Amino acid sequence: MFEIKKKDGLARIGDFETPSGTVETPAIMPVINPNLKLIPMEKLRNEFDIQILITNSYIIYRNEELRKQALEGGIHGLLDFQGPIMTDSGTFQAHVYGDVEVGPEEILSFQKKIGSDISTILDEFTEPDDHRNVANKKVEITVERAKKAKEMFSEEKGHIAYPIQGSVFTDLRKRCGKMMGELNGDFYPIGGVVPLMESYRFSDLTRIILSSKQGLGPRGPVHLFGAGHPMIYSLAVLLGCDLFDSSSYAKYAKRGDVMFPEGTKNLSEIHHMGCECPVCVSHTVQELKGLDDKAKERALAQHNLWISLREIKKVKQAIIEGDLWELVERRVRGHPDLLESLEVLKRNNHGILSRFDPRSRRKAIFYIGRESFHRPSIKRLQDWIRYDYSPPSKGPTIFFHVDEKKKPYHRHLKKELSYLEEYATNYLVSTPFGPVPLEMDEVYPVAQSIFPPSKKQEDLFEAYKEKEEIDEIIPWEGKETLGSLSSSKAKLSLGEMMVKSVSDYQFFKGAGDILSKGDMEFVKNRKGRIKNVILDGEHILSVRHYDGLFTLKKPGARILWEEFSTPELRIIVTDDSAKFNSEGKNVFAKFVKDMDERLMHRDEAIVVTQNDRLVATARVFLIREEVEVFDKGLAAKTREGFELEQDMD
Ligand code: GUN
Ligand code: ZN
Repeated sequence: MFEIKKKDGLARIGDFETPSGTVETPAIMPVINPNLKLIPMEKLRNEFDIQILITNSYIIYRNEELRKQALEGGIHGLLDFQGPIMTDSGTFQAHVYGDVEVGPEEILSFQKKIGSDISTILDEFTEPDDHRNVANKKVEITVERAKKAKEMFSEEKGHIAYPIQGSVFTDLRKRCGKMMGELNGDFYPIGGVVPLMESYRFSDLTRIILSSKQGLGPRGPVHLFGAGHPMIYSLAVLLGCDLFDSSSYAKYAKRGDVMFPEGTKNLSEIHHMGCECPVCVSHTVQELKGLDDKAKERALAQHNLWISLREIKKVKQAIIEGDLWELVERRVRGHPDLLESLEVLKRNNHGILSRFDPRSRRKAIFYIGRESFHRPSIKRLQDWIRYDYSPPSKGPTIFFHVDEKKKPYHRHLKKELSYLEEYATNYLVSTPFGPVPLEMDEVYPVAQSIFPPSKKQEDLFEAYKEKEEIDEIIPWEGKETLGSLSSSKAKLSLGEMMVKSVSDYQFFKGAGDILSKGDMEFVKNRKGRIKNVILDGEHILSVRHYDGLFTLKKPGARILWEEFSTPELRIIVTDDSAKFNSEGKNVFAKFVKDMDERLMHRDEAIVVTQNDRLVATARVFLIREEVEVFDKGLAAKTREGFELEQDMD
């Protein structure tokens, strides 16, 4: 019911199917109070282009008139909206008023009766200051109710929302997420977070989202219950949330508060709106201030909703372009408490954030603030260099201090490299990300980044020196440095070093040695850049101009396939799928039996059958955790097919 179409880390653009139509996520569900129609439905549909709404079934249930109308004309009739409608259950009222006068089965069956597209179970709202035992008990009750709901109603039309509770206890959130995920439902709200957002406890919120996602895995869609401020959308999407409900647009409007992605201002303090929404285009600030209370509330509600929807569009654009991290780092500057939440991301860097982060992006990464240095794509490369990299040549390492703007560095070191041609040495350059082997200076994000130098470089350099594989590091101080070196005939060229190191980084340790066993030649472009790698006359790898990584050509794939047994680099597909994939057609999630758990988004992979026959080369879209739970959509883009033998069994 949910298909990922585009992604960047945990963020995704997806299609979510409901009985009343498909919703493209991330999306906002404006909260409609059936008693109080602040923005006319026609406007919501036509001007705001709203795809999905949320309303509260408990409010309807308790009001005789509304209940009657809903039972007769359905929820779509009551709200005069034919698109997808989600209904909530009364849990929030229980949180506000202490209790509700309805049972879990009663309210769920009512939601089903009125034709809700997504019905919510009556979950137990875990409060931020709940004692651990209390929160635990509430999680148990919520999971019990979820199981019951699944038994009783999962055959009926429409989805059921299974909220994840657990207060601020990350282990409870994780456990609840896991149990809800195991129900194999199709909609997962993260609940109990409204009080945290109201008190700007964004670090707790970040921890909660991450731990819920850890338990739940990539299942979706994930809905962040009660998150209505555009300031946090980009962060929440980066953490893997797909849907938001907003009543804030209306609540804020009631007290004269005007929303912006950078924060909130009261209308009384505003002299210039700087907004192009229909309300702001047709009213001056003075006119807005002069409206009577009701008209002002309506006007500001429209502005607030417009701003929220526009922010979601920005987030989507950022997912497509690959610069969501940059957007988040800009937005969190809207409030110091929001900025603090990035500390949580820094600490999670070995967790799901880096597991889902793509191997590379098409776009260069930009420095926004100090925390930019902690993005997963940088950390991954730094860790690899520090812990896994082995210098490809024997002998000492020459360290070049370079201008971080002159990239790729090796092209500005032509003279130095020619002096060093006959000496067996490795090369290291200083970069904003710390020391990087020179042969990797075109690999993402070394060349594809605009970052200032940082003090951390020196610490990283000190740490690098401790590496066991390092012989001796000699700073380049001009030609006289040659005096301390001994010449060697077994010298590797920078191109050969690149093949070894980049293959080890991109594929796995040892791939570089295997892919350089033989006579190596290079095809270069007019500027002298390596385009293709030829081994014993066969084109094994191409260098991608935009990220310095390799595209695996068929002969290269065959070498790795022969040398390394399954599951290394493999995507294992059914025989039915293999026929299509060998003809160049893409790999779909439904037909993937298994895949190497180390393959990452955008990695080069080898498609094989369950008997490990070569089928194709491909580029990974969904990673293992995702193909395990999604049976819809693209899993990998096929590059080239191998000819399949006739006797496929
Ligand atoms: N609305 C805001 N928070 C919640 C929650 O935790 N559960 C439900 N069902 N609705 C909510
Ligand atoms: Zn406006």
